[in-house]
This record gives sequence, C-alpha cells and structure tokens, in this order.
Amino acid sequence: MAIILDKTKTLFTLQTDHSMYQMKTGRYGVLLHTYFGKKGSIFDYSYLVTYADRGFSGNPYDAENDRTYSLDALPQEYPTYGSGDYRGCALKVRYPDGSFSCELKYKGYEIKKGKYTLPGLPAIYETEDKTADTLIITLEDTRRLFCVHLYYGVFEKLDIITRAVCIENHSDVSLYLENIQTACIDFLYGNFDFHTFYGRHVKERTHQRTPLAHGIQSVGSTRGTSSHQYNPFFILSEKDTSEDTGGCYGMSLLYSGDFLGSAEHDQYEQTRCLLGIHPENFTWCIKPGDSFYSPEAVLAYSDEGLERLSHIYHRAYRENLCRGIWKNKRRPILLNSWEGVYFDFDGDKLVSMAEEASRLGVELFVMDDGWFGKRDLDVSGLGDWIVNEKKLGCSLHDVSDRIHALGMSFGIWFEPEGLNEDSELYRAHPDWALRIPGKPPVRARYQLLLDFSREDVREYILRHVCQVLDSAKIEYLKWDLNRSLSDLYSASLPSDRQGEVAHRYVLGVYDMLEKLNNRYPDMLIEGCSGGGGRFDAGMLYYTPQIWCSDDTDAIERLSIQYGTSFGYPVSTMGSHVSKCPNEQTGRMTPLYTRGIVAMSGTFGYELDPGEMTDEDRETVKNQIAEFKQYYNLIQYGDYYRLTSPDGTKSWHSWEFAAQDGSEAILFAVSLQIHPNGPGCWCRLKGLKKDRIYLADGIEYPGDVLMNTGLPLPAAKTEYDGIRIHITEI
Ligand code: DGJ
Repeated sequence: MAIILDKTKTLFTLQTDHSMYQMKTGRYGVLLHTYFGKKGSIFDYSYLVTYADRGFSGNPYDAENDRTYSLDALPQEYPTYGSGDYRGCALKVRYPDGSFSCELKYKGYEIKKGKYTLPGLPAIYETEDKTADTLIITLEDTRRLFCVHLYYGVFEKLDIITRAVCIENHSDVSLYLENIQTACIDFLYGNFDFHTFYGRHVKERTHQRTPLAHGIQSVGSTRGTSSHQYNPFFILSEKDTSEDTGGCYGMSLLYSGDFLGSAEHDQYEQTRCLLGIHPENFTWCIKPGDSFYSPEAVLAYSDEGLERLSHIYHRAYRENLCRGIWKNKRRPILLNSWEGVYFDFDGDKLVSMAEEASRLGVELFVMDDGWFGKRDLDVSGLGDWIVNEKKLGCSLHDVSDRIHALGMSFGIWFEPEGLNEDSELYRAHPDWALRIPGKPPVRARYQLLLDFSREDVREYILRHVCQVLDSAKIEYLKWDLNRSLSDLYSASLPSDRQGEVAHRYVLGVYDMLEKLNNRYPDMLIEGCSGGGGRFDAGMLYYTPQIWCSDDTDAIERLSIQYGTSFGYPVSTMGSHVSKCPNEQTGRMTPLYTRGIVAMSGTFGYELDPGEMTDEDRETVKNQIAEFKQYYNLIQYGDYYRLTSPDGTKSWHSWEFAAQDGSEAILFAVSLQIHPNGPGCWCRLKGLKKDRIYLADGIEYPGDVLMNTGLPLPAAKTEYDGIRIHITEI
C-alpha cells in the first residue's frame, strides 16, 4: 500500500517508486503540508516547520495568544480565504450572510484500494495492474455548513499523485463557491525557476523558464478553453536543474476550460503553488445536500531533471489517461484536405486527392471544413450539419465508398460548438448561442458559439452529428473549435447562477465527447481548436490525439513540439507534412525534414498530393515506410530533448530510445550554416553503456555514444534533416 499512516493517525505519507508526499494534522485541527519530493525515510517532516512570532499575521482563535502559530506562515494542504493566511488561497466560499471567511478543521480520512473517479470529469485511471490507491481526507468548515473532501490517487509505478476536491454542502442553505483550486503545494524553502508554456494562435506552448521572484507569477486562461496563450501545466525546478540533473515538480490540470496556475514566493522565502479553475469567470451555487467536484490535477516529482519528469507524464498520459482502442493501436497515416484545398472542393476532387495519397501509402483521408450547409467560406453555414450534396456532387456515402474502395478509411471534420449567424441553425434558434440579451455579442472568425452548458442544445447537435456519422462509413472525426468563449450567459440559468456557465460549458463538451466515444468506440477522434488552443490533458481523456498547431511550418513546429513535449507524449501531437512554400510562413524546407518533424508526432500529410513532383512522391513513399518501421520506437520509446530549438546550435536534435535501450533513433535539423564551421557532436541518451551499437555503419560502445557523442555531418543547407538509427549488436 502506497499510503502509510503513522500510529497516531495524524501523519499521512504517500509514496510512489521515486517520490513522497506528506501531510500532518497539526495542532488545532489544521492540515499541514509537510513534504513533497524525493522518496526518503518515512519520518515526521513537520520538524522542518519554523514557529516564530509572525508580525501582522493572524492566529487561529483556538491558538489563543500563541503568536507563533499563524496560517500566514505555515505550510498548508488546503488554504482558505479569510483564515489569517493572506497568500493565494485554494478555497473561497460565499456564505448565506454574504461573508467569505472560512476555516477548515480536520474531520477524518478514508483509504481505499483502487483509484477514485470524478463524475463527468476526466481522470487518470487504473490499468489492469491495479496498483493505485485512494486517500480521502475530510475537512469541515468551522461554521459546520460544508465538508471538503481532498482526494489523492497514488500511482506507485507511474510515480504520480493525482488530486481532486469535492465540496459537500450538508447544511440547509445554499453556498456559493467563488474559488476552488484543485491542488496547493507549499514549499518551506527553495530557490526555484518557474517553467511555463506560453504562445498564441499558430505558436503554441513555447517553453519559458524564469526565476521566481517575490510576489505571484501565474499563467491562466479566461477564454473558456485552456487556450493557445498558456497551458494548464507548469514546472517548478531548482535553479541548476537541467534536462538530466536536479529536482523539479510538475503540476498538470486535466481541464479544458479557464484555469489558473500560480507560484507565489512569500515574505518568508516560502513558495506556494496553486492550480485549478480560474476564479475570474466562476461562481458555483451548491444547494443543500449537493456536491461540487473540481477537475483533477496530476503532480509529479523528478530528482533526475526535466527529461525524467516528462517521461513520467508521457507514460501516465499515454497509458492511464488516453482511452479506447486507439490508445495503443497504430494510428493511421492520414491526409487532411485543409491546406490542400481549403473550402474549394467537390467529391471528385477529394477522391482524386485520396487516389494519389493511397498510391503513396496514406491510410486515412480526412475531409476537413466545407462539406456541409452553405459553407464555401468561414462566414456561413456553421451549425448546419447537413451534407452539401450539391457541392460534393454526390452523397457522403458515395465519397466514403469511393475512398474505401481505394483501401483507405475516411474521416470528417466537425465544429460542434460553433455557429455562424448566417446559418439555418441560428435563424431557427438564436437563443441557443452564447450571448447576453440586449448586448451585441463579440464575434470571432465570423461566428458565435452554442450554449453547450444546455443539455437540449447538446442533444440537438449530437443528434445531427450522429445522423451524418451514421450515413456513411466514417472512421475518424476531427472535433474543432475556432474561437474563444465570450458573452457568458445561459438562458437556462437564473441570474445568480450565471457564474456557472463557463464550467458547465466544459462539462457539456465532455458530456458530448463521452457520448460520442461510447456510441462509436472504434472511431478515432482528434481534438483541435484552431490547432492547439485546447491542447490539454482533459481533452486527451476523450481524444487520444490533438492537432498541435495550425502552424505547419516544420521549423516553427520544432519549438511547438519541443514545448509540448515537456508535459505530453508524442502520441498525442497531431503533426503533418504540408506544402512548400509553407502556407503560414512562406518558408522552404526540404520534404525530408518536414517528414522527420511530422513523424515525431501522429503522422500525416496536409497538402494536395496531385501537385507533387515525382521525386517528392518517392520521398513520401519512403517517409511512410520509415514511419511504419520506426513507429513503435517513436511512439513507445523514451523521448529525449537533446538540444533546445532556439537556434544557437547548428543542429537541433532529439531522440527516441527503446525503453530497454536496445535501439534509438536520432533526428536533427540544421538551424545554422557556417562555411568552414566547427565540428558537431551529439551525446545520445537511454542506451546501455556496456553494449556495442551500430550507428551510421560504425560500431560504438554505448558509453561512448552517451559520454563523448556521435559526430554529426556538417550541414550543407539550411533546414537539412538527418535521421540516424542506432541499434545494439
Ligand atoms: C482550424 C483547424 O486547426 C484547421 O486544421 C482547420 O480544420 C480549420 N479550422 C477549418 O476551419
């Protein structure tokens, strides 16, 4: 059992293979956080807590005049607003009298075999090995109106601890949640760097490492989705932590809506990290007898640098978050129609693209936006999920049949949450759009969003999506969303519950995705939001892959995929070879390089194969064969970031090594060309030091490849790509 209780039953120690987490019920019933980090002796780590006279910091009433007991200074497991702790809080509740101050006292605990689940929310699950345990600690507010159940899932082998919170109103009055953070971690000391993943549309998840300074540093989203701008995942590392040395902590939220992640360095040089739903657009009324569940957070610690931390998340998300038959099945190599033809196609054009693609070895043809309603541009038709047979020149069934006759499978694009004002749906149901009566709505990409917090709206959309899916043989669905939420208002909720719309919307999206997964268990669903605007661990529970970015430029993709790799496995990153010059940047990049970048994700193409030269066709055939050959190594091997793609090195390189160290594949792209330039070597990782490997026709001992490195050729042209397969002999 990975949950250990001491004799006094006040000290809770959670252990994974390499990490440890500890809490203690302290004096006055306060639940203290006493340790998170490297696995060590089971010991009462509360000895580290300093008690000193804390000026201008309150003391709990029960502490009488003990000025050394202040929640403003103590490490807490679940700090609340108004308790005399003036740092960021995990919980703020509006009581019936309009006040907000709340204090929690320890009430009890429960330990269960297996992993808890969360109603209507994504959660890490236990696989057949059944190695997870659950601890539930219950706290009660001192006014005795509600309980707080803190959930901990301990996955020993995965080296992760999951957390979630349930607030249960056992009073006879309604309570209003104003802020509920899923997880808080208080560090008593440490000089940390804060790693976040920022971006914008067509430039998502750029890795940023900044020193923590006094005050609060935070990332978050109030856009209704997890967003292109910041990701609900961050890392706190020691100053000297590198890819393979030093301590670091990861906090990742399984949530696809507004979030806030923060790190606060306080007056006593302590650090508090919080992660949960962003409180900006959130209030939730809990009626008497009702409960509210927070989304889940996944915590991990590595004392072997960032790469080990990433490996922990890669494994957990690949094996214990993604679900369904596609979790471990080779995903089909696809051709998506978007950048090839945009809205300009008919059935014959699609089939001719598929014909060309099938000759190259592509396995799935995806018809993107433009096949329904009056949809020849993005200004109209969204929401009208009726096949435009006039445009196609045939039925969907015909298109699908003709594509299947080529030996390929067929996929289709939807944007279930969106609608244009110029659509039959909007004309029939204007009140179904997210908008505030009397206020002109904010438009984006000429469209509005449907009120997905409403069951009737979701049911209508689901029915129409299913009608299309049932009308032909369809094996893949791309679920897109092309704007952020605004005008949060739902006609179905009273005025005092409008603060629930944003979260209810996310629950609505999850509800519909769950229903689709249940109804079409064999279908591969790919998530998308204008590329990676909703690339988060919450979506991965429903869609095992997500289109990583609308930026398909291979060189831009280096930093997007590099940043994404800190928290997510390559099996989740939708990545395609697109045409040159690139549609977003105009850049020319060799097809070979575009191939190795795309195959470091879920591989596909996004161009019109009819426009390719014969030489390119041959290259593509080889690429596809190579991808199939190296698929297991790439998807299930350990991924190593060998360099940063910041352009300071001539070659930017990354590697996949088999978990048993028997083989590896090295990819590199030249970012700098120097005539008469210096030599370049690449230190490999994940090999067995005492075995001999063959690389580029030469035999090397494993320790040599890892310690002194493999010589790389001088790059001749910008953006050259190389691939070297290293095998144990
Ligand atoms: C945004 C997506 O990211 C693209 O791949 C494409 O599907 C368009 N939407 C279609 O409108």
